[in-house]
Amino acid sequence: MSEIKITIAGEAHVHFAEEICSMMEQAAQQRGTGIAKRSHLYVSAKMMEGKAVIAISDNTPVGFCYIETWGHGKHVANSGLVVHPDFRNTGLARDIKAEIFKLSRKKFPEARIFGITTSLAVMKINSDLGYKPVTFSELTTDEDFWKGCQSCRNYDILTRTNRSHCLCTGMMFDPSKPAKPANKKLNKEEQWERFKRFMKFQGIKEGADRLRQKIKNKSGNLKINKSSWLSKISLF
Ligand SMILES: CC(C)(COP(=O)(O)OP(=O)(O)OC[C@H]1O[C@@H](n2cnc3c(N)ncnc32)[C@H](O)[C@@H]1OP(=O)(O)O)[C@@H](O)C(=O)NCCC(=O)NCCS
Repeated sequence: MSEIKITIAGEAHVHFAEEICSMMEQAAQQRGTGIAKRSHLYVSAKMMEGKAVIAISDNTPVGFCYIETWGHGKHVANSGLVVHPDFRNTGLARDIKAEIFKLSRKKFPEARIFGITTSLAVMKINSDLGYKPVTFSELTTDEDFWKGCQSCRNYDILTRTNRSHCLCTGMMFDPSKPAKPANKKLNKEEQWERFKRFMKFQGIKEGADRLRQKIKNKSGNLKINKSSWLSKISLF
């Protein structure tokens, strides 16, 4: 795979806007969820304002994300995250999000940064950036933000619940709330207990399967006994 360059988008990238929009549209169709539709003019404007991050490989856009501001800049959303299917699962979304998060913090240091998503990958990335799950009532009250949900096929749920919840999870980074100190290092027994709890949490069956797959990939063999799992835990 060729080298991927991640950069703040600008005038030089405006000619990629249509390609990016069709990448977003295809992704929305595949997922079956109603990601708000963006026009190439809107995407171009984000680039011109220096409020977007683009990933390019072989002179082709392979990833994108942009900044939106709500409630007079009190709230910022990093929206429209998309990675070309051929480039997924390589950590590209994580890198793009890290870059747009850095840009958002620089441009709007006081703002709360939030997002709503049904994507597990995005929840994982957000959580590692310091976002916490929040109720919808904590998100922006800016009507224009919620109008973006009108093109989603689940919009009836949002209206039926008086905008209190929907299929998306709301997550927010609040700069006024200091990050908790990193967890203390667990000993092997504690790691094992946590791991068992995780595996039991079968809402996350998918997570357990992915974890098994990861161990398989990293270690090349998979033995289901306690000592084998213990020795692999440090891989994460
Ligand atoms: C969601 C999307 C941006 C993820 O891009 P990606 O480059 O494959 O993501 P990454 O490789 O950076 O993965 C980030 C993390 O999510 C995990 N992940 C990736 N895909 C996942 C999935 N389908 N389910 C659960 N976890 C997933 C990865 O394992 C990784 O975790 P790790 O670092 O702990 O291993 C990409 O799939 C996409 O463009 N989807 C269509 C558009 C979309 O859904 N956008 C989000 C709108 S909110």
